[in-house]
Amino acid sequence: MIHLTTDNVSVLLTQTAGALPVIAHWGPRINASDRDLIEYAGTSVRTGMDGLSDVPYEPGILPEHSHGWGGLPGIRAHRAGAAWSPRLDVVSVAVDGETLAEGAVVQRESGFVSIHANDEWAGIGIDLEIDLSSSGLLRTRVSVRNDSDAHEHLEIVGVNPALRVPTDAREILDFSGRWATEKIPQRHPVVFGTHTRESRRGRTGLDATTVVAIGTPGFDASAGCVWLCHVGIGGNHEHAVERSDGHLAFRGGELLLPGEVRLARGERYASPWVYGSFGVGLDAAAARYHGFLRERSRSSRRPRPVTLNVWEAVYFDQDFDTLAELATRAASLGVERFVLDDGWFLGRRDDTAGLGDWIPDPASWPDGLAPLAEHVRGLGMEFGLWVEPEMINEDSDLARAHPDWILKAGAELPPRFRYQQVLDLSNPDAFKHILGVLDGLVTDHGVTYLKWDHNRDLIDAGHPVTGAPAVHDQTLAVYELIDELRQRHPELEIESCASGGGRVDLGILERTDRVHTSDNHDPLDRSRMLRWTGLLVPPEMLGSHVASAVSSVTGRTSDLHTRCAIAFLGHFGIEWDIRELEDAEAVILSRWISAYQEHRELISTGRVVADGDFDPDAPALRGVVAADGSEAIYTIVTPALSADSRRRVRLPGLLAEARYRVESARPDSLGPWWLSPYWLDQTAGLDSDAEAPSYSGSLLREAGLDLLTFQPDRALVLRLVRVDG
Ligand code: GLA
Repeated sequence: MIHLTTDNVSVLLTQTAGALPVIAHWGPRINASDRDLIEYAGTSVRTGMDGLSDVPYEPGILPEHSHGWGGLPGIRAHRAGAAWSPRLDVVSVAVDGETLAEGAVVQRESGFVSIHANDEWAGIGIDLEIDLSSSGLLRTRVSVRNDSDAHEHLEIVGVNPALRVPTDAREILDFSGRWATEKIPQRHPVVFGTHTRESRRGRTGLDATTVVAIGTPGFDASAGCVWLCHVGIGGNHEHAVERSDGHLAFRGGELLLPGEVRLARGERYASPWVYGSFGVGLDAAAARYHGFLRERSRSSRRPRPVTLNVWEAVYFDQDFDTLAELATRAASLGVERFVLDDGWFLGRRDDTAGLGDWIPDPASWPDGLAPLAEHVRGLGMEFGLWVEPEMINEDSDLARAHPDWILKAGAELPPRFRYQQVLDLSNPDAFKHILGVLDGLVTDHGVTYLKWDHNRDLIDAGHPVTGAPAVHDQTLAVYELIDELRQRHPELEIESCASGGGRVDLGILERTDRVHTSDNHDPLDRSRMLRWTGLLVPPEMLGSHVASAVSSVTGRTSDLHTRCAIAFLGHFGIEWDIRELEDAEAVILSRWISAYQEHRELISTGRVVADGDFDPDAPALRGVVAADGSEAIYTIVTPALSADSRRRVRLPGLLAEARYRVESARPDSLGPWWLSPYWLDQTAGLDSDAEAPSYSGSLLREAGLDLLTFQPDRALVLRLVRVDG
């Protein structure tokens, strides 16, 4: 028996009679003696009944037909039609590298379990890893090996570990979406059968669910038991919730195309990590992902620089004078990183040509990019650059020189998406070429930041010569490319963009530092996207830009304060032609920039909380609370007008026993004075030293404050500071 526990979560694994382990409990922390655990392990022993095998089977992390399991097996593989139903015998079990004796009971704070098992007859060996991180995130992955001398390959059809969840979790929250409309929530009951969310796009997908929450009825941001699950790969993959007799599990894995992984003797297939986080409420479950990423990410190493991305300012219309003017204006507002977006390389006047030819276009950059890079650095800012290294336009010198470097499954090229095709990075020559190009750009121009884009699906993507499926190889090659580049440039930061939020997953986030949440910067849509993408990604890794008043996507107009307030709890930036700014706007924007700089440490380390997710008439609240409860910042967005002229807003996450002073960024656009509640009128301005009333944390958290319904679509930012020591 292995009991891993940390921070209010327990994972109890039982392993008997050589079979693979079973998750006997995954949920709230348990306290039990070793003796208790042994006795508990016996409690699920039962005799068979009609309709079940005579030795009833508890489905393990990799359920097996060979034990009587009638659902989807954990490993689907075959060797020319044989060896398709392995019965894996455990050879060894180790926790944190220490091999366990038979009958051992181990109880650990977090811990890493590795299990070797094989089926000699079928010629299959596996290594199964199960890890409970220090933030309480559970993850598992499997490596399958072909151990047979037979000359036929072992074809892997699918490897889908099962994270078992108690059957009293009866509701699912998952997400859909499309371009500029990422993360539309859908909530529905768990029913018998399998609810599957697939991506066959070779990138995570703009419609990807990203996470699947399974929870007890009515779960919300802070209540109910929630199991928040995720598959950590950007290639084809599947998130599934499986319900059958006495059984509920999250199943996740890579979706392999026909014949895509065929192992010769001694070769292995490694599944992606499948993750699960238990918490009381969505926010507690999300915090484990945030903790996990914060331990690894470069974003946590230094304050997030305020960024100007020039895409929505100039689109493809680039020249030195315009960009230098933008940079000068940006620096004067306090911007710290300047990112030159698409349009700088050979032949790139629009999106029909140029991808692949990564040299500055002499038409718009006669002296190359060096003068701009130097100008930007001279202003004290970092210089960042947009690239899309996995892609190629047919209208490019690279495609003309190497038509055989383009993925295709048959005689014809796949249909174009945004006029582009996919460069075959599993081809060593193409890989070497593109690595050299990226390395050169970073070195030659002192680039500290790449916005790494990916603007098409990998549909119909085969190896150019054989036509064999290429998504798996391409996904691994991209990871290798980024890993190699980062090794050469340890300080280089990378943003994952795929037409917006189309590649947001822990496969890419292991090697990148932030995501481009969406191409839609309309603050009202952004508020939703930041909330839901934020179930996986902590705020400091969520690109969050202030764009023009009239949204380029929705056509809606929103005031500057609202745009800044929504962007505030993220990695703050600007994507707007700031040459047009009026003086008053420049003052407001630069104040928001310095407020972000002052509070970014809290935003980058605090615990994310929310409220109002599922009530369209309630103010939507998102906040970040310091780990020690000393401080918090909330953004509150009022919805469209409703029948309620006022609503209570509770401030989650505060310490009940503490007292807090309330400060606010209170815009004129909140509406006429008679809409403003008394308590809000009493607050100090953000960062002002003025006296302001203080309230008990318990009152603010449990009873809340009245908010009159101000003009719809407005945002309020509150800062709470502990005043009682
Ligand atoms: C994608 C990105 C945008 C921008 C354009 C450039 O659509 O999502 O932010 O970089 O490409 O072509």
